[in-house]
Amino acid sequence: MPGLTIGDTIPNIQADSTHGKISLYDYLGDSWGIIFSHPGDFTPVCTTELGMMAAQAEEFSKRGVKLIGLSCDDVQSHTEWIKDIEAFNKGKKVTYPILADPKREIIKQLNMVDPDEKDPSGGAVPSRALHIIGPDKKVKLSFLYPASTGRNIDEVLRVLESLQKAAKHKVATPVNWKPGSKCVISPSVSNEQAKQMFPNGYETMELPSKKEYLRFTDV
Ligand code: BEZ
Repeated sequence: MPGLTIGDTIPNIQADSTHGKISLYDYLGDSWGIIFSHPGDFTPVCTTELGMMAAQAEEFSKRGVKLIGLSCDDVQSHTEWIKDIEAFNKGKKVTYPILADPKREIIKQLNMVDPDEKDPSGGAVPSRALHIIGPDKKVKLSFLYPASTGRNIDEVLRVLESLQKAAKHKVATPVNWKPGSKCVISPSVSNEQAKQMFPNGYETMELPSKKEYLRFTDV
């Protein structure tokens, strides 16, 4: 299936939502965005995921990120479902909009279709997809999970921090990186440039190849 992937510009989706009609570009403005789909309303894993996104909404907001959920059912169904999500979440409000996609058009545009799951009438069902969108409206990172596997929202926050650091400092984040630990300097940065760009310095790891490409720094 052709599909939206990293580097692509996200289409300017127009849809009904729990916050009224939404035009995606107007909603995002110049912010980062996270759009995440769910197989369906009133399903167990989705209820826990939307609840956790609501619980972490402030963390995303602090990082300049706007959240937007998507499930194929209609707005009335979403509105009823939100009561369950908030009850599960001990009253924490769902403050982000949830898009409706009853015609299953948006999920096709956004590469959010589960290839195996079908609804009772044979229609397409969303996978558990999540796209992180940069201020330039390009997809920076995507998660593509099957319906049976709930996402780890701490991991969504972690990769967001990595993306934002990389966008700001010409660094990358190594294996199992956690916020606050050292980053590596991008290979496109020469040692001369690195001295200017990282005034706190950096450490180069000595390697058998003698190539000086593994450079750690704090930013
Ligand atoms: C769920 O959200 O729990 C779910 C939805 C569709 C298939 C399997 C699980």
